Amino acid sequence: MKLPRLLFPAAIACAIICSCASHSTIGAGKDVEQRVESILSKMTLAEKIGQMNQVSAGADVSNYADALRAGSIGSILNEVDPVKINEFQRICVEESRLGIPLLVARDVIHGFHTVFPIPLGLAATFDPALVEAGARVAALEATAQGVRWTFSPMLDIARDPRWGRIAEGSGEDTYLDARMAEAMVRGYQGTQLDSTSMAACIKHFVGYGAGEGGRDYNSTYLTERQLRNVYLPPFEAAVKAGAMTLMTSFNDNDGVPSTGNTFVVKDVLRGEWGFDGLVVTDWNSMGEMINHGFGTDRKDVAAKAANAGVDMDMMTYGFLSHLEELVKSGDVKVSTIDNAVRNILRVKILLGLFENPYIDVEAAAAVQYAPEHLAAAQKSAEQSAILLKNDGILPLAPGRRILVTGPMADAPHDQLGTWAFDGEKQHTVTPLQALRDRFPGKVDYVPGLSFSREKRQGFADVIAAARKADVILVFLGEEAILSGEAHSLADLNLQGSQSDLLAALKTTGKPVVATVMAGRPLTIERDLPNCNAVLYSFHPGTMGGPALANVIFGDVNPSGRTPITFLRTVGQAPLYYSHNMTGRPYTGQTLIDDIPLEAGQTSLGNTSYYLDYGAYPLFPFGYGLSYTSFEYSGIATDRAEYGVDDTIEVSFTLANTGKYDGEEVVQVYVRDLVGSVTRPVKELKHFERVFLKAGESRQLTVSIPTEELAFYGLDMVKKVEPGDFQLWVAGDSASGKPVSFKVK
Ligand code: BGC
Repeated sequence: MKLPRLLFPAAIACAIICSCASHSTIGAGKDVEQRVESILSKMTLAEKIGQMNQVSAGADVSNYADALRAGSIGSILNEVDPVKINEFQRICVEESRLGIPLLVARDVIHGFHTVFPIPLGLAATFDPALVEAGARVAALEATAQGVRWTFSPMLDIARDPRWGRIAEGSGEDTYLDARMAEAMVRGYQGTQLDSTSMAACIKHFVGYGAGEGGRDYNSTYLTERQLRNVYLPPFEAAVKAGAMTLMTSFNDNDGVPSTGNTFVVKDVLRGEWGFDGLVVTDWNSMGEMINHGFGTDRKDVAAKAANAGVDMDMMTYGFLSHLEELVKSGDVKVSTIDNAVRNILRVKILLGLFENPYIDVEAAAAVQYAPEHLAAAQKSAEQSAILLKNDGILPLAPGRRILVTGPMADAPHDQLGTWAFDGEKQHTVTPLQALRDRFPGKVDYVPGLSFSREKRQGFADVIAAARKADVILVFLGEEAILSGEAHSLADLNLQGSQSDLLAALKTTGKPVVATVMAGRPLTIERDLPNCNAVLYSFHPGTMGGPALANVIFGDVNPSGRTPITFLRTVGQAPLYYSHNMTGRPYTGQTLIDDIPLEAGQTSLGNTSYYLDYGAYPLFPFGYGLSYTSFEYSGIATDRAEYGVDDTIEVSFTLANTGKYDGEEVVQVYVRDLVGSVTRPVKELKHFERVFLKAGESRQLTVSIPTEELAFYGLDMVKKVEPGDFQLWVAGDSASGKPVSFKVK
């Protein structure tokens, strides 16, 4: 049923939507609900509370046996040994009173054993189908070992690269993030739930990526409008795609920690979106509400979390220890607990755990690192590599003597990136290995630096080797441990002496091709003059080596795009393309050296940027070069004016004007010129990959439903505001000329 456009406050709209919602967002039908009720009716209060308790596994199964038998653990995380998982399940199913199976969880973030590029790298593919296929591989490997729940995808919009966890998400853009969210949910869970389905957990709800100054775990101050227009839509898209679970975040937003935030959990997620999946806390985020000063003790925060709509407690033991007394005192209603248990049981039933709690241990081993999994990981790494600079040296012609150098050339652990718990470095193929396999006897290797943070003076050994080479391939970047949780950085230049190594290589006069493998966009402006080409690969995973070799030697034409703005210097952060228009928009750049001596106290112009670094980033969002070139022409909308229920058809001609076949990432941006509140200067509304042979050109049409232009304006109701709009079709967020249209 399509709801009419409602012109009254969101809360009322929500009440109506909720009362109309007759379907389960996670796919449960009537029979599932009946099973849920039947189990629930047999449970004691203690057994119900037990289901709401999640613990991290330790080394010894016997430590948990009694608790599992008593039904006081609903889920375990961090156990991946299939033999132990079977034993856990056996105790639950055969020895507990009600035989409720366990939900086994793991952070399977970008692959299980076969590791894919980090999520930021996956976002750089701008290819949801590929990302979905990768998530399916992760699910096949993990579920074979008994893991049926992953704490992924992370949907935190991140606009400050100092934040280490920027590596784990899809970058700065709401639209791109939403498309990647849907893809990962579909991939993990499968189009139909079966024994290979791994429940997705969309996290961290919400705003965690906006922590002050990019420092992890810090406070956020997002207004309701920012939440609704920028931070919530990827979660809503993932809920619509059927995400079975969600995790509350560590941060407090405007003073309210997410795990006790009734507005976001109860009103928006449960109320407006009708989410009937499982809500879990982040690791001890219930307990941390005491540190936040949002609760006096564990009992107090347990009540706050339960009453906000949280179903499962990860590692605070707050529910287990206090819910019973909170029910007795009337601080938490039994109906609240019943609802939580329903949400947990629903997931277990849908995953088929009651029918198939066990796994086939031998079959599990055979699934890991299957050739088709490695091929999928390689393709993802190829598509995610972003060519940032090329003076024509790439693609490299074979047959030359190559010097391979740099701390990331042969760093099998580090190229896996953050949150790769189950990736094994002995299965990783590094660039050095891939190049040696490809050109036996033609590759010299002198690391120069053995790890990214190493400091060193003088590179005589590297320079001597470089003199004998025809071309230098240098692999730079960050170790895996420099990004991810609790790894924020204030300085984003290449660590250690890497810039010095590059400068030394430049002095040899030999062509230098640099590849940067990192967990975030580093500030590499000062390094660009020292290389002929730069390929940026967010930590590329198990098959990074062959993938990068294929790109460097032209078997694959690079097509990755920046999923985040690359800064010239860290002081520019946060700088993102879809910022709101200021009252003094810049029309050109006046820089610090343009200021005359003893100038008067005047504004030099519209300087809504830093005088020393200017208005622009190093590379804009959506940017990436190819070995070929593309040209857009004849961009036109099918009409000049649209109604709010119409669809905008944009047609244009895309031509491959270069010498190589290649894929362009076509991007469509829109600007709403006047709103009831100020609007972003541009917003991505569509993207797609288009393959064209060298010299080929094609007429293309993109459809954008006008309702895609809706936003939460002054009255906090989502709708399209009639008026004038501009639209760009281009290869990145900073290019192209706008066409105009109206919505009436
Ligand atoms: C992280 C989550 C993760 C959880 C379980 C927490 O520290 O914030 O993203 O899923 O641990 O490992």
